[in-house]
Amino acid sequence: MQGKELFKSVFGLEAEDLFTAAGRINVIGEHVDYCGGKVFPAALNLRCNVYGRKTGANVIRIALKGIDGIKEIEIDKLDSYKELEYANYQAGVAYYLQQQGTPIVGCDLFYECTVPFGSGLSSSAAIEVATAVALSEYAGVKYDKVNLARISQRAENEYVGVNCGIMDQFASAMGKKDHAVLLDCSTLDYEYVPLDLGDYALVVANCNKPHNLVESKYNVRRQEVETALNIIKTVKDVKCLAELSPKDFNEVKHLLAGAVCKRAEHVVMECERVNMAVKALKAGDIVELGRLLNESHYSLRDLYEVTGKELDALSSFARKETDCLGSRMIGAGFGGCTISIVKKSAVEGFIRHVDKAYYDAIGYRASFYETSIEDGITVTKL
Ligand code: GLA
Repeated sequence: MQGKELFKSVFGLEAEDLFTAAGRINVIGEHVDYCGGKVFPAALNLRCNVYGRKTGANVIRIALKGIDGIKEIEIDKLDSYKELEYANYQAGVAYYLQQQGTPIVGCDLFYECTVPFGSGLSSSAAIEVATAVALSEYAGVKYDKVNLARISQRAENEYVGVNCGIMDQFASAMGKKDHAVLLDCSTLDYEYVPLDLGDYALVVANCNKPHNLVESKYNVRRQEVETALNIIKTVKDVKCLAELSPKDFNEVKHLLAGAVCKRAEHVVMECERVNMAVKALKAGDIVELGRLLNESHYSLRDLYEVTGKELDALSSFARKETDCLGSRMIGAGFGGCTISIVKKSAVEGFIRHVDKAYYDAIGYRASFYETSIEDGITVTKL
């Protein structure tokens, strides 16, 4: 059964609206969004679809495809669902919308999420953003998409407790078909760049490593770069690490020790790579783009230390294929997905080879997704 029918079987009446938000990839610019850097994500056809109906009751009822039962969130107690399994994301979004003066209205929401959970493709951002659209529409308050992304990020930071940057929610809300979004995370200025790879395609692969403490490891990385910034601030007038050029960084590097130094070096060099990658893409130089993707992965492996043997294996088997120009992990890391730039005519063989090599090395299979680049938020009357 599809979402619309499932809505009816769970809630008894027909859904009236469909709100969707996207999962995302990130071409390059990893672990720099919370350092004020530029990122280069794109919204996917893998999405969070929310079928909705306004009820006017004092409660938001939530059901999720594949999970039995309905979660009820009372509108006058929105701050008390932080521990609620899976519906805490929705409650957090509702709570911060309400804090901003939005008169949250009771509704039934059915979630059909085609972004695989824990895949590094931002299923949580897609859930938050789709919820933010649904609840603000039902409240009759028009937010622009950037504000919906900000509210969603706030829910994840302060309600769910993951100190993420703005990249995922922004891409989920603001993505544009066949384009990547070059987003400056310190100003939220952005530019759409056609993601035209000519004879090449982006292949998304999930290493399927079981989810394990990603959130806490992520929060530790954030603290480490914060420490680096605070030390650098004692000698340089900067607001964020992304402001440092590689040359600036070399002048202050001696002040930083061990892991803190490596983390900061990754951020500075990754910001540099984003600029180079966008230039290469605009010039149609896909070979150079592929090289930069590889460099990004090596830096995430050696300096930021967020890859792990599964992502390293998956991307290194990809790189061994002659028709692959580059491959890297995307998202928070410690598991999740890679993207690889592969000649269109060779994609089938690429998947077959990498799948086998990965299985032989790791002992379980990777998943390969058919993806396309699509718009962010959509709203449809049913
Ligand atoms: C996660 C976070 C993003 C970003 C990436 C790493 O996806 O939600 O804000 O920090 O990791 O680039």
